[in-house]
Amino acid sequence: EKIPCEIFSNPKEGSRYVAKEIATLIKDKQAKGEKCVLGLATGSTPINMYAELVRLHKEEGLSFKNVITFNLDEYYPLEKDAYQSYWSFMHRHLFNHIDIDPANIHIPNGEWQKETIKARCQEYEQLIDNAGGIDLQVLGIGNNGHIGFNEPGSSFFSKTRLINLDNSTRVANAREFQNIAKVPRLAITMGISTIMKSKRIILMAWGFKAAIIAKSVEGDVTEQVPASILQQHNNCTFVLDENTSAEL
Ligand code: GLP
Repeated sequence: EKIPCEIFSNPKEGSRYVAKEIATLIKDKQAKGEKCVLGLATGSTPINMYAELVRLHKEEGLSFKNVITFNLDEYYPLEKDAYQSYWSFMHRHLFNHIDIDPANIHIPNGEWQKETIKARCQEYEQLIDNAGGIDLQVLGIGNNGHIGFNEPGSSFFSKTRLINLDNSTRVANAREFQNIAKVPRLAITMGISTIMKSKRIILMAWGFKAAIIAKSVEGDVTEQVPASILQQHNNCTFVLDENTSAEL
């Protein structure tokens, strides 16, 4: 079944729309005295959306005191403090500028000891469950259809785990590193089933991703196109610009 899409004339407007939905959810939960559990993504795609959330915090008093976050993924191995880490990314673009309690921030850690990763990944799943599950998961999409770092071939039953990055993903993300050799070969990512358990999912995409968006929205549901499984989620929306929606 086709995934519902909201199409905007540019990424800024799409980003504002998503930030507004997130802010509304946070405030609704606040009014009920409840926590709001957000699943967060990195990459260039959500940067404007985070900037808008920061603006809503600074200019309109949106508070993140009741917010708990779980990030999708992290390179492995990589020091938390490295400029390229998703830990650094999230602090640079969002966490350093809002009033979230640092204890409520969860990001897979590129410094986990290799022997303990399995247990740490299980613990990550447990932490999500203990928080009551993810209320709203934000996603980007890789050119090969990956969500989080679930590369093509990832099982729809997969959970948080260590994975091998596709070469195309390493090439696409090389700009963040000094050169391709410096891009880690592994990553820790929430699994497809972890993502699918979220109560609401918003996938954003801008620019030159029309072909993979068309496959994901209306192509066959296949593990070769990880984002295509989102067709089977009952509350998922794609937020697109005119470029990414061109082949729908
Ligand atoms: C990375 C992230 C994904 C992200 C994708 C797209 O590989 N792990 O979560 O969606 O890149 O990146 P961009 O938003 O820069 O196009």
